[in-house]
Amino acid sequence: MPEPLLDVRDLRVSFRTRTGAVTAVDGLSFSVAPGEVLGVVGESGSGKSVSMLAVLRLLTNPNVTVSGEVLFRGRDLLALPDKEMRAIRGREIAMVFQDPMTALTPVYTVGWQIAEQIRAHEQVSRKKAQARAVQLLSDVGIPDAASRVNAYPHEFSGGMRQRAVIAMALSCSPALLIADEPTTALDVTVQAQILDLIRELNGLGSAVVLITHDMGVVSQIADRVLVMYGGRAAEEGPRRAVFHGPRHPYTWGLLDSVPRVGGARLRRLPTIAGMPVSPGNIPEGCAFAPRCRLRHDRCEERPALSGDTHLDACWLPPDDRAALRLTARSSASAATDMDTEAAS
Ligand SMILES: Nc1ncnc2c1ncn2[C@@H]1O[C@H](COP(=O)(O)OP(=O)(O)OP(=O)(O)O)[C@@H](O)[C@H]1O
Ligand SMILES: [Mg+2]
Repeated sequence: MPEPLLDVRDLRVSFRTRTGAVTAVDGLSFSVAPGEVLGVVGESGSGKSVSMLAVLRLLTNPNVTVSGEVLFRGRDLLALPDKEMRAIRGREIAMVFQDPMTALTPVYTVGWQIAEQIRAHEQVSRKKAQARAVQLLSDVGIPDAASRVNAYPHEFSGGMRQRAVIAMALSCSPALLIADEPTTALDVTVQAQILDLIRELNGLGSAVVLITHDMGVVSQIADRVLVMYGGRAAEEGPRRAVFHGPRHPYTWGLLDSVPRVGGARLRRLPTIAGMPVSPGNIPEGCAFAPRCRLRHDRCEERPALSGDTHLDACWLPPDDRAALRLTARSSASAATDMDTEAAS
Protein backbone atom coordinates (compact mmCIF):
# COMPACT_ATOMS: atom_id res chain seq x y z
CA MET A 1 0.00 0.00 0.00
CA PRO A 2 1.44 3.42 -0.90
CA GLU A 3 1.67 6.02 1.85
CA PRO A 4 -1.69 7.84 1.88
CA LEU A 5 -1.78 11.41 0.65
CA LEU A 6 -4.66 12.22 2.97
CA ASP A 7 -5.29 10.23 6.10
CA VAL A 8 -8.28 11.32 8.16
CA ARG A 9 -8.53 9.75 11.60
CA ASP A 10 -11.44 9.84 13.98
CA LEU A 11 -12.77 13.16 12.66
CA ARG A 12 -15.57 14.65 14.73
CA VAL A 13 -17.51 17.80 14.02
CA SER A 14 -20.21 19.15 16.26
CA PHE A 15 -22.25 22.32 16.13
CA ARG A 16 -23.58 24.14 19.14
CA THR A 17 -27.15 25.09 18.30
CA ARG A 18 -30.03 26.64 20.22
CA THR A 19 -31.48 23.18 20.78
CA GLY A 20 -28.22 21.65 21.97
CA ALA A 21 -25.11 20.12 20.41
CA VAL A 22 -25.47 18.26 17.14
CA THR A 23 -22.83 15.86 15.91
CA ALA A 24 -22.59 16.06 12.12
CA VAL A 25 -19.44 13.94 11.78
CA ASP A 26 -18.94 11.23 14.34
CA GLY A 27 -15.57 9.47 14.33
CA LEU A 28 -14.97 9.35 10.58
CA SER A 29 -11.73 7.78 9.30
CA PHE A 30 -10.70 7.38 5.67
CA SER A 31 -7.65 7.79 3.52
CA VAL A 32 -6.84 8.74 -0.06
CA ALA A 33 -3.75 7.42 -1.83
CA PRO A 34 -1.83 9.62 -4.28
CA GLY A 35 -3.57 9.63 -7.66
CA GLU A 36 -6.62 7.78 -6.37
CA VAL A 37 -10.29 8.73 -6.89
CA LEU A 38 -12.41 8.23 -3.78
CA GLY A 39 -16.17 8.47 -4.33
CA VAL A 40 -18.11 9.56 -1.25
CA VAL A 41 -21.80 8.71 -1.19
CA GLY A 42 -24.60 8.88 1.36
CA GLU A 43 -27.98 10.48 1.87
CA SER A 44 -28.48 14.18 2.29
CA GLY A 45 -27.33 15.21 5.75
CA SER A 46 -24.93 12.30 6.22
CA GLY A 47 -22.04 14.72 6.82
CA LYS A 48 -20.24 14.57 3.48
CA SER A 49 -19.81 18.32 2.95
CA VAL A 50 -19.18 19.13 6.60
CA SER A 51 -16.40 16.54 6.86
CA MET A 52 -14.61 17.92 3.77
CA LEU A 53 -14.99 21.50 4.99
CA ALA A 54 -13.45 20.34 8.28
CA VAL A 55 -10.54 18.74 6.38
CA LEU A 56 -9.80 22.11 4.75
CA ARG A 57 -10.40 23.98 8.02
CA LEU A 58 -13.15 26.02 6.46
CA LEU A 59 -15.56 25.66 9.38
CA THR A 60 -14.64 28.85 11.14
CA ASN A 61 -17.89 29.46 12.99
CA PRO A 62 -17.18 29.74 16.75
CA ASN A 63 -20.01 27.28 17.43
CA VAL A 64 -18.18 24.48 15.66
CA THR A 65 -15.89 22.00 17.38
CA VAL A 66 -13.61 19.86 15.22
CA SER A 67 -11.39 17.10 16.58
CA GLY A 68 -9.36 14.21 15.24
CA GLU A 69 -6.45 14.19 12.85
CA VAL A 70 -6.26 15.20 9.20
CA LEU A 71 -2.85 14.06 7.99
CA PHE A 72 -1.88 15.45 4.61
CA ARG A 73 1.50 14.14 3.48
CA GLY A 74 1.98 13.16 7.12
CA ARG A 75 1.30 16.64 8.58
CA ASP A 76 -1.80 17.27 10.69
CA LEU A 77 -3.73 20.06 8.96
CA LEU A 78 -5.83 20.65 12.08
CA ALA A 79 -2.68 21.66 13.97
CA LEU A 80 -1.08 23.80 11.25
CA PRO A 81 -0.61 27.58 11.63
CA ASP A 82 -3.13 29.56 9.53
CA LYS A 83 -0.47 30.82 7.14
CA GLU A 84 0.71 27.32 6.23
CA MET A 85 -2.87 26.16 5.89
CA ARG A 86 -3.58 28.97 3.43
CA ALA A 87 -0.57 27.92 1.37
CA ILE A 88 -1.91 24.36 1.16
CA ARG A 89 -5.47 25.42 0.31
CA GLY A 90 -5.78 26.11 -3.38
CA ARG A 91 -2.19 25.15 -4.13
CA GLU A 92 -2.02 21.54 -2.90
CA ILE A 93 -5.64 20.86 -2.09
CA ALA A 94 -8.34 22.50 -4.17
CA MET A 95 -12.03 22.33 -3.43
CA VAL A 96 -15.01 22.66 -5.72
CA PHE A 97 -17.91 23.62 -3.49
CA GLN A 98 -21.42 22.26 -3.65
CA ASP A 99 -22.69 25.76 -4.38
CA PRO A 100 -20.44 27.45 -6.99
CA MET A 101 -21.67 30.89 -5.93
CA THR A 102 -19.92 30.51 -2.57
CA ALA A 103 -16.59 30.09 -4.33
CA LEU A 104 -16.95 33.14 -6.57
CA THR A 105 -17.07 36.73 -5.39
CA PRO A 106 -19.85 38.65 -7.15
CA VAL A 107 -17.87 41.91 -7.31
CA TYR A 108 -14.91 40.74 -9.43
CA THR A 109 -14.80 39.33 -12.93
CA VAL A 110 -14.40 35.59 -13.28
CA GLY A 111 -11.06 36.02 -15.03
CA TRP A 112 -9.71 38.28 -12.32
CA GLN A 113 -10.62 35.69 -9.69
CA ILE A 114 -8.90 32.87 -11.54
CA ALA A 115 -5.83 35.02 -12.19
CA GLU A 116 -5.64 36.03 -8.52
CA GLN A 117 -5.86 32.39 -7.49
CA ILE A 118 -2.87 31.66 -9.76
CA ARG A 119 -0.93 34.66 -8.46
CA ALA A 120 -1.57 33.75 -4.84
CA HIS A 121 0.50 30.62 -5.28
CA GLU A 122 2.84 31.34 -8.17
CA GLN A 123 5.12 34.23 -9.06
CA VAL A 124 3.74 35.22 -12.45
CA SER A 125 2.88 38.58 -13.97
CA ARG A 126 -0.73 39.75 -13.98
CA LYS A 127 -0.77 39.52 -17.76
CA LYS A 128 0.47 35.93 -17.81
CA ALA A 129 -2.01 34.94 -15.12
CA GLN A 130 -4.83 36.51 -17.14
CA ALA A 131 -3.73 34.60 -20.25
CA ARG A 132 -3.72 31.37 -18.21
CA ALA A 133 -7.23 32.20 -17.00
CA VAL A 134 -8.44 32.48 -20.60
CA GLN A 135 -6.79 29.16 -21.46
CA LEU A 136 -8.32 27.46 -18.41
CA LEU A 137 -11.80 28.80 -19.18
CA SER A 138 -11.49 27.52 -22.70
CA ASP A 139 -10.22 24.14 -21.37
CA VAL A 140 -13.36 23.76 -19.29
CA GLY A 141 -15.50 24.46 -22.35
CA ILE A 142 -16.51 28.11 -21.91
CA PRO A 143 -17.14 29.36 -25.46
CA ASP A 144 -15.41 32.58 -26.48
CA ALA A 145 -13.25 32.49 -23.36
CA ALA A 146 -11.17 35.53 -24.39
CA SER A 147 -14.17 37.84 -23.95
CA ARG A 148 -16.07 35.84 -21.29
CA VAL A 149 -13.05 36.15 -19.01
CA ASN A 150 -14.18 39.72 -18.33
CA ALA A 151 -17.70 38.73 -17.30
CA TYR A 152 -18.96 38.82 -13.72
CA PRO A 153 -20.23 35.62 -12.06
CA HIS A 154 -23.89 36.72 -12.37
CA GLU A 155 -23.42 36.94 -16.14
CA PHE A 156 -22.58 33.24 -16.25
CA SER A 157 -25.19 30.48 -16.24
CA GLY A 158 -25.12 27.98 -13.32
CA GLY A 159 -23.25 25.43 -15.43
CA MET A 160 -20.73 28.02 -16.59
CA ARG A 161 -20.13 29.13 -13.01
CA GLN A 162 -19.54 25.54 -12.01
CA ARG A 163 -17.04 25.20 -14.84
CA ALA A 164 -15.32 28.45 -13.84
CA VAL A 165 -14.91 27.12 -10.31
CA ILE A 166 -13.43 23.93 -11.71
CA ALA A 167 -11.07 26.01 -13.87
CA MET A 168 -9.96 27.71 -10.67
CA ALA A 169 -9.38 24.38 -8.97
CA LEU A 170 -7.40 23.14 -11.96
CA SER A 171 -5.28 26.29 -12.14
CA CYS A 172 -2.64 25.00 -9.74
CA SER A 173 -2.71 21.27 -10.59
CA PRO A 174 -3.45 20.36 -6.97
CA ALA A 175 -2.22 17.10 -5.46
CA LEU A 176 -5.77 16.63 -4.19
CA LEU A 177 -9.05 17.91 -5.57
CA ILE A 178 -12.10 17.73 -3.34
CA ALA A 179 -15.19 18.11 -5.51
CA ASP A 180 -18.51 18.37 -3.67
CA GLU A 181 -21.39 17.48 -6.01
CA PRO A 182 -19.67 19.15 -8.96
CA THR A 183 -22.23 17.90 -11.47
CA THR A 184 -25.52 17.99 -9.61
CA ALA A 185 -26.91 21.20 -11.05
CA LEU A 186 -25.79 20.50 -14.60
CA ASP A 187 -27.42 18.90 -17.61
CA VAL A 188 -26.04 15.52 -18.67
CA THR A 189 -23.81 16.75 -21.48
CA VAL A 190 -22.10 19.33 -19.28
CA GLN A 191 -21.98 16.70 -16.54
CA ALA A 192 -20.04 14.40 -18.85
CA GLN A 193 -17.62 17.22 -19.75
CA ILE A 194 -16.97 17.98 -16.08
CA LEU A 195 -16.33 14.31 -15.34
CA ASP A 196 -13.91 14.21 -18.26
CA LEU A 197 -12.07 17.19 -16.80
CA ILE A 198 -11.83 15.49 -13.44
CA ARG A 199 -10.56 12.35 -15.14
CA GLU A 200 -8.01 14.40 -17.05
CA LEU A 201 -6.76 16.03 -13.87
CA ASN A 202 -6.59 12.60 -12.26
CA GLY A 203 -4.65 11.33 -15.28
CA LEU A 204 -2.07 14.04 -14.58
CA GLY A 205 -1.59 12.61 -11.09
CA SER A 206 -4.06 14.48 -8.86
CA ALA A 207 -6.00 12.47 -6.31
CA VAL A 208 -9.71 13.25 -6.18
CA VAL A 209 -12.38 13.04 -3.50
CA LEU A 210 -15.68 13.16 -5.35
CA ILE A 211 -18.84 13.65 -3.33
CA THR A 212 -21.99 12.74 -5.20
CA HIS A 213 -25.51 11.36 -4.89
CA ASP A 214 -25.10 9.71 -8.24
CA MET A 215 -24.07 6.07 -7.93
CA GLY A 216 -23.71 5.96 -11.73
CA VAL A 217 -21.01 8.63 -11.58
CA VAL A 218 -19.22 6.76 -8.80
CA SER A 219 -19.35 3.52 -10.74
CA GLN A 220 -17.66 5.24 -13.70
CA ILE A 221 -14.94 7.19 -12.03
CA ALA A 222 -14.07 6.04 -8.50
CA ASP A 223 -11.26 3.67 -7.55
CA ARG A 224 -12.65 3.35 -4.04
CA VAL A 225 -15.97 4.17 -2.46
CA LEU A 226 -16.81 5.52 0.99
CA VAL A 227 -20.43 5.14 2.06
CA MET A 228 -21.45 7.52 4.83
CA TYR A 229 -24.44 7.31 7.11
CA GLY A 230 -25.23 9.56 10.08
CA GLY A 231 -21.79 11.19 10.08
CA ARG A 232 -20.00 7.84 10.13
CA ALA A 233 -18.48 5.48 7.60
CA ALA A 234 -20.86 2.56 6.96
CA GLU A 235 -18.69 0.88 4.34
CA GLU A 236 -15.51 1.53 2.43
CA GLY A 237 -13.73 -0.45 -0.21
CA PRO A 238 -12.58 -0.82 -3.80
CA ARG A 239 -15.31 0.17 -6.26
CA ARG A 240 -15.82 -3.30 -7.71
CA ALA A 241 -16.02 -4.88 -4.27
CA VAL A 242 -18.59 -2.36 -3.06
CA PHE A 243 -20.73 -2.53 -6.21
CA HIS A 244 -20.55 -6.30 -6.67
CA GLY A 245 -20.49 -7.42 -3.04
CA PRO A 246 -21.88 -4.61 -0.88
CA ARG A 247 -21.75 -5.57 2.78
CA HIS A 248 -23.68 -2.97 4.74
CA PRO A 249 -27.49 -3.08 4.66
CA TYR A 250 -27.47 0.68 4.03
CA THR A 251 -25.32 0.19 0.92
CA TRP A 252 -27.73 -2.56 -0.22
CA GLY A 253 -30.51 -0.02 -0.01
CA LEU A 254 -28.53 2.61 -1.90
CA LEU A 255 -27.68 0.20 -4.72
CA ASP A 256 -31.12 -1.38 -4.91
CA SER A 257 -32.75 1.99 -5.32
CA VAL A 258 -30.86 2.64 -8.58
CA PRO A 259 -32.80 1.55 -11.69
CA ARG A 260 -30.86 -0.79 -13.98
CA VAL A 261 -30.89 -0.77 -17.77
CA GLY A 262 -31.97 -4.27 -18.81
CA GLY A 263 -32.82 -5.21 -15.22
CA ALA A 264 -36.15 -6.61 -14.07
CA ARG A 265 -39.05 -4.19 -14.55
CA LEU A 266 -40.22 -3.16 -11.13
CA ARG A 267 -43.58 -1.68 -10.36
CA ARG A 268 -41.90 0.59 -7.90
CA LEU A 269 -38.23 1.09 -7.15
CA PRO A 270 -37.37 -0.09 -3.67
CA THR A 271 -36.64 2.73 -1.25
CA ILE A 272 -34.94 2.66 2.12
CA ALA A 273 -37.68 2.60 4.73
CA GLY A 274 -37.78 5.29 7.41
CA MET A 275 -36.12 8.67 7.58
CA PRO A 276 -32.42 9.60 7.67
CA VAL A 277 -31.11 10.20 11.19
CA SER A 278 -30.73 13.80 12.23
CA PRO A 279 -27.39 14.81 13.74
CA GLY A 280 -29.08 15.83 17.01
CA ASN A 281 -30.15 12.28 17.79
CA ILE A 282 -27.89 9.68 16.26
CA PRO A 283 -28.40 6.42 18.16
CA GLU A 284 -25.56 5.27 20.42
CA GLY A 285 -25.35 1.97 18.62
CA CYS A 286 -25.47 1.46 14.86
CA ALA A 287 -26.81 4.68 13.31
CA PHE A 288 -28.70 2.72 10.64
CA ALA A 289 -30.34 0.24 13.05
CA PRO A 290 -33.70 2.06 13.32
CA ARG A 291 -34.20 1.61 9.54
CA CYS A 292 -32.54 -1.78 9.15
CA ARG A 293 -34.73 -4.83 8.47
CA LEU A 294 -32.05 -7.10 9.92
CA ARG A 295 -31.37 -5.30 13.18
CA HIS A 296 -30.88 -7.38 16.31
CA ASP A 297 -29.90 -6.83 19.94
CA ARG A 298 -26.23 -6.41 19.18
CA CYS A 299 -26.98 -3.32 17.09
CA GLU A 300 -27.49 -1.29 20.27
CA GLU A 301 -23.73 -1.34 20.51
CA ARG A 302 -21.81 0.70 17.93
CA PRO A 303 -20.08 -1.55 15.37
CA ALA A 304 -16.49 -0.62 14.49
CA LEU A 305 -15.51 -0.21 10.85
CA SER A 306 -13.58 -3.40 10.27
CA GLY A 307 -12.08 -5.41 7.45
CA ASP A 308 -8.94 -5.46 5.41
CA THR A 309 -9.29 -3.48 2.18
CA HIS A 310 -13.10 -3.76 2.09
CA LEU A 311 -14.42 -2.51 5.41
CA ASP A 312 -17.87 -2.23 6.91
CA ALA A 313 -19.52 -1.33 10.19
CA CYS A 314 -22.18 -3.98 10.75
CA TRP A 315 -22.75 -6.80 13.25
CA LEU A 316 -24.20 -9.31 10.78
CA PRO A 317 -22.06 -12.43 10.23
CA PRO A 318 -19.87 -11.60 7.19
CA ASP A 319 -20.32 -14.97 5.47
CA ASP A 320 -24.11 -14.80 5.53
CA ARG A 321 -24.45 -11.33 4.06
CA ALA A 322 -25.30 -12.34 0.48
CA ALA A 323 -28.19 -14.57 1.64
CA LEU A 324 -29.33 -11.94 4.15
CA ARG A 325 -29.41 -9.32 1.41
CA LEU A 326 -31.89 -11.44 -0.55
CA THR A 327 -34.04 -11.88 2.57
CA ALA A 328 -34.00 -8.13 3.21
CA ARG A 329 -34.84 -7.45 -0.43
CA SER A 330 -37.83 -9.81 -0.52
CA SER A 331 -39.24 -8.47 2.73
CA ALA A 332 -38.79 -4.94 1.34
CA SER A 333 -40.66 -5.77 -1.87
CA ALA A 334 -43.41 -7.49 0.13
CA ALA A 335 -43.80 -4.30 2.14
CA THR A 336 -43.81 -2.23 -1.07
CA ASP A 337 -46.50 -4.47 -2.57
CA MET A 338 -48.64 -4.02 0.53
CA ASP A 339 -48.17 -0.24 0.30
CA THR A 340 -49.16 -0.33 -3.37
CA GLU A 341 -52.26 -2.40 -2.65
CA ALA A 342 -53.24 -0.17 0.22
CA ALA A 343 -52.88 2.87 -2.03
CA SER A 344 -54.96 1.44 -4.90
N1 LIG B 1 -23.81 25.40 10.66
C1 LIG B 1 -24.48 24.32 11.02
N2 LIG B 1 -25.15 24.28 12.19
C2 LIG B 1 -25.83 23.18 12.59
N3 LIG B 1 -25.88 22.04 11.86
C3 LIG B 1 -25.25 22.02 10.69
C4 LIG B 1 -24.52 23.16 10.20
N4 LIG B 1 -23.99 22.81 8.99
C5 LIG B 1 -24.37 21.55 8.75
N5 LIG B 1 -25.13 21.07 9.77
C6 LIG B 1 -25.72 19.74 9.85
O1 LIG B 1 -24.74 18.76 9.61
C7 LIG B 1 -25.31 17.66 8.93
C8 LIG B 1 -24.43 17.25 7.80
O2 LIG B 1 -24.52 18.22 6.79
P1 LIG B 1 -23.76 18.10 5.41
O3 LIG B 1 -23.95 19.39 4.71
O4 LIG B 1 -22.38 17.63 5.63
O5 LIG B 1 -24.58 16.96 4.69
P2 LIG B 1 -24.31 16.32 3.26
O6 LIG B 1 -24.03 14.88 3.47
O7 LIG B 1 -23.29 17.12 2.54
O8 LIG B 1 -25.74 16.47 2.59
P3 LIG B 1 -26.14 16.88 1.08
O9 LIG B 1 -26.04 15.59 0.34
O10 LIG B 1 -27.52 17.37 1.20
O11 LIG B 1 -25.18 17.91 0.61
C9 LIG B 1 -26.70 18.09 8.48
O12 LIG B 1 -27.67 17.44 9.25
C10 LIG B 1 -26.73 19.56 8.74
O13 LIG B 1 -28.00 19.96 9.16
MG1 LIG C 1 -23.33 18.35 0.93
